Amino acid sequence: MSNHDVKDLSLADQGRERIDWALTEMPVLSAIHGRFAEQQPLAGARISGCLHITTETANLARTLKAGGAELVLCASNPLSTQDDVAAALVQHYRIPTFAVRGEDGGTYYRHIAKALDHRPQLTMDDGADLVSELHKNRSDVLRDVIGGTEETTTGVIRLRAMAADHALKFPVIAVNDAMTKHLFDNRYGTGQSTLDGIIRATNILLAGKTFTVAGYGWCGRGIAMRAKGHGAQVIITEVDPLRALEAAMDGFRVMPMHKAAACSDFIVTATGDKHVLGQTHFAIMKDGCVIANAGHFNVEIDIPELESLAIKKHRPRPSVEAYQLKDGRTIRLLAEGRLVNLAAAEGHPATVMDMSFANQALSIAYLWEQGGDLDNTVHPVPTDIDQQIAAMKLAAMGLSIDSLTPEQQAYLSSWKEGT
Ligand SMILES: NC(=O)c1ccc[n+]([C@@H]2O[C@H](COP(=O)([O-])OP(=O)(O)OC[C@H]3O[C@@H](n4cnc5c(N)ncnc54)[C@H](O)[C@@H]3O)[C@@H](O)[C@H]2O)c1
Repeated sequence: MSNHDVKDLSLADQGRERIDWALTEMPVLSAIHGRFAEQQPLAGARISGCLHITTETANLARTLKAGGAELVLCASNPLSTQDDVAAALVQHYRIPTFAVRGEDGGTYYRHIAKALDHRPQLTMDDGADLVSELHKNRSDVLRDVIGGTEETTTGVIRLRAMAADHALKFPVIAVNDAMTKHLFDNRYGTGQSTLDGIIRATNILLAGKTFTVAGYGWCGRGIAMRAKGHGAQVIITEVDPLRALEAAMDGFRVMPMHKAAACSDFIVTATGDKHVLGQTHFAIMKDGCVIANAGHFNVEIDIPELESLAIKKHRPRPSVEAYQLKDGRTIRLLAEGRLVNLAAAEGHPATVMDMSFANQALSIAYLWEQGGDLDNTVHPVPTDIDQQIAAMKLAAMGLSIDSLTPEQQAYLSSWKEGT
């Protein structure tokens, strides 16, 4: 390993084609790229990013580099790396990258260690593995870091737990919590790409099937909405009464997993929780039931338990593992229980990553500008960044909206007018 570890540099031209293709759907990030190239807001900043190595991430990386940053990337998931993109990052964009699709756990953490050898002043994470490694094993690097960003719900939960323990040693911006991130990326991005992953992996018609979604959060509601659109009968399982009620009033059937598991053809977890599907559910699943996970870590389905129940396992299609149980039933697990939309498809379409990564780029520039003055806790994306991105996206879509008249502004900020 020198300044990169990628599968095959000869894939670089193909990667560049696909990165350019994605850019055509990323007008907001493109505008920020232009602004960064001119103003150099990240001049001299050392950044280490632990992100899914996809076409959209490549465009984010190019934007940060255009803004003056020295950037190193590693993968945030062993199965989400697009090897052609990793090759293009190294070969065409001169961005040191450590990511190989299918890398084992040891290599995954070695790659994170390489990204940390860059001695970052700013970090970018998707799931908080980089920040966690930094705090647990690399105190030598910690003192240089002035801030970081976090992309996903699970990462934000981990970081909030660190902050509550007073263990977090630098400020982190929760990009996930920006409205222009989770309302679109988690919902429409995960919705479309999860269905894409399941369909690519199985090629089974969804119409008329029973399709269960565990978790009616931002990801779950996107998946449920799209499964319904395919003609499936959709069941939601939840632990939060408010969200369960919302699902019921959105027209979905709501029941506990021990009932849903018995009648489902497909079950997808999107909770950020662990062992949402386990031994009691495997025991009652229909023969041929397809199970998949769209939550961040591969712990939502208890795979070791499934392994121990199986008498035989084979791989009928590239992203499908068929587990045969003692009683003759088969349970089909997709993408080894890892993010099915990234492992069996290409992750979120660039159109939504445009906004997520616009938030990343502007939040990183904001952190650099603050120069470490923020508290060592989890911070929201500044509201004006969120508003700016929404306005830019609308403009790029050719949409305009009304603005408040002075009379309406006065009315909405007053308590004096009533009935
Ligand atoms: N696949 C992707 O590309 C992608 C994109 C964004 C987020 N994520 C990940 O997806 C997960 C969900 O994210 P989100 O933004 O929807 O979170 P969220 O907090 O909005 O929703 C999670 C929901 O799951 C429910 N839940 C928790 N434990 C449960 C259980 N045992 N059974 C049923 N429901 C349960 C919670 O009550 C909550 O309503 C996180 O791990 C997040 O990091 C994945």
